[in-house]
Parts: sequence; C-alpha cells; structure tokens
Amino acid sequence: MRFDWIWVFCTCLTLAHAEPRQTAKVGGLQVMEKSVFSQGEAYERFMGRWSRALAPNFIAFCNVRDGESILDVGSGTGSLALGLGAVMGDCRITGIDPAKSYVSYAQSRTHSRRIRFEIGDAQRLRFPDRSFDKTLSLLVLNFVPDPPRAVTEMIRVTRPGGVVAAAVWDYAEGMEMLRIFWDQAVALDSTADVRDERHMPFCGKGELATLWRERGLLQVEETSLTVPLVFSSFEDYWSPFLGGQGPAGSYVVSLGSEQRLHLEQRLRNRLRIADQERLITLKARAWAVKGLVPSP
Ligand SMILES: C[S@@+](CC[C@H](N)C(=O)[O-])C[C@H]1O[C@@H](n2cnc3c(N)ncnc32)[C@H](O)[C@@H]1O
Repeated sequence: MRFDWIWVFCTCLTLAHAEPRQTAKVGGLQVMEKSVFSQGEAYERFMGRWSRALAPNFIAFCNVRDGESILDVGSGTGSLALGLGAVMGDCRITGIDPAKSYVSYAQSRTHSRRIRFEIGDAQRLRFPDRSFDKTLSLLVLNFVPDPPRAVTEMIRVTRPGGVVAAAVWDYAEGMEMLRIFWDQAVALDSTADVRDERHMPFCGKGELATLWRERGLLQVEETSLTVPLVFSSFEDYWSPFLGGQGPAGSYVVSLGSEQRLHLEQRLRNRLRIADQERLITLKARAWAVKGLVPSP
C-alpha cells in the first residue's frame, strides 16, 4: 500500500499546532473532547477500513434480504450502509450518526438514491414506529451514553418480526490492533489505563446478548466475527493513530512529542518490524448479536 506522505505532513502540522483540549467521558472512558469522532477521512484511515472488512460478515449474520428497508444506527463514515448497498441492489438504507463530518463524508461516498445519511442520535430516533425491516448498529453501542434506551428505540422503529442487531469489537482480547496499542500505552503511562477501551461495555462474550434479552427481543443469538487486519508496514499501523480519532487516536494526540515517540518505539518493537515494508498481519474479533422484535 502506498504510504501517503502528504497526509502525514498535514497530520504533523495539526499535532504541532494542537490546542490543549478539555477531557470528556465517552463510553465510560476519559477522552479528549470533540476529537474522538470528528474527521471522516482520518476515521476512515484509522478504523473505517476495518469496519468495512467486518461489514460483510455482519450483513450475513443479520440475514439481510434484498428489498428490505434498513436503518444503520451510528453509521459513521458509511462502512455498513455502503457495504449493504453494494450487495443489495433494492434495499433502502438510512444511516444516522451524531457526527456531522462523518455524515457528510458518508454521503459523499454514494450517489445512490436508495442510501442516505443524516444526523441523529440512537437514543432519540426521529422515525415512526415500525419504519424498518431491520435496524443494525456496527461498533457503536459501547459509545452511546444510554445503551438500553438506544436498543429500546431500535426496537420501536423496527416492525414486529423484524431484526435488531449490533456488533462491538472485543477490545479486551480479540481486537489485536487496539489491544497491542493499549498494552504498550499503559506499560509506558499507567494513567492511560482509564482510557483503555477494554473497560468499554459490551465488548465481552455474552454482554450484548444479555442486553438484547433484557430488552425483550426474541430468539437472541450471539456470535463472534473475526477479520484479518493486514498492515503494509509499521507506518500503515501507526500513522492513522495520529489522526486523533476514537479513544486511542485521541490519547495519542494528547501526548507530548517525546512521549508519543516513546510509545511509537515501544509499538515498533512489539510488532518486531525490522524492515518497515514488511506486512503486519493481526486479527480483530467482534461480538455480534441479533434478535427478533416481538409482536405487541
Ligand atoms: C466506532 S464508530 C463506528 C462507526 C461505523 N458504524 C463503523 O462501523 O465504522 C462509532 C460511531 O458511533 C457514533 N455514535 C456515538 N454516539 C452515538 C449516538 N448517541 N447515537 C448514534 N451514534 C453514535 C459515533 O459518531 C461514531 O460514528
């Protein structure tokens, strides 16, 4: 994969001129306010590409059929909605996300009239009851302040007998890219532990299924979905963290340049990259759940 020097140069300029920022809580973690989900392109380079890799497995698990109307809750830069649109020519797909820049980035990636993105909050969906055949949410619920409320809303807007489904990365163990990152970050700076995404809710086996059953969904099924993460070089692994997206990127851009360099060096050693052009192959596991909406 070609290494994009212009992007790195712009990122370094951004870091050099970064203003000190306030901290905030996201998914129970301490993160840098406003920087967590704010730049579509940077998110796409960092995590969006792995969401895209995961989306086909999630779509298959949800048993989406062509012609259905689908709501994508927390659509981000569009990985799920656009992935669905590519394989289901007759589905009508709506993506909602509170991050304005992600919504416009996602919308800029399609000219299809069947796919649209808009600003919205999972906890207060604007749609009437029973609007969709399936309501899906990929890698989002752990970031929502009130997940039970979001699931109740997802159920409300889905027709009886329709499917409500979600997936969350297994940050504690199976999401190797971030597991390796946080292990090294915390080894260097124990105060980083409060930001480690392993503390996020719903990232362990059985947690999403429990929430689904508590909300009254029927025939609840949970599974693990695993995708390979192939990085063309150490730079391809490391440089997307500098875009400041998500809790890990937000942590990296909060560091001073010396601390950031130490972390980079630890990660380089951990990934044992002698030759920067060597491929790094990791795995990422997510837990996925689905259930049927009961009749009233
Ligand atoms: C890790 S990203 C996943 C995005 C996308 N689904 C994907 O797979 O690439 C988490 C997303 O959750 C969104 N989000 C955070 N709080 C939300 C809320 N209350 N309602 C809906 N989405 C939310 C963020 O803006 C962000 O786009």
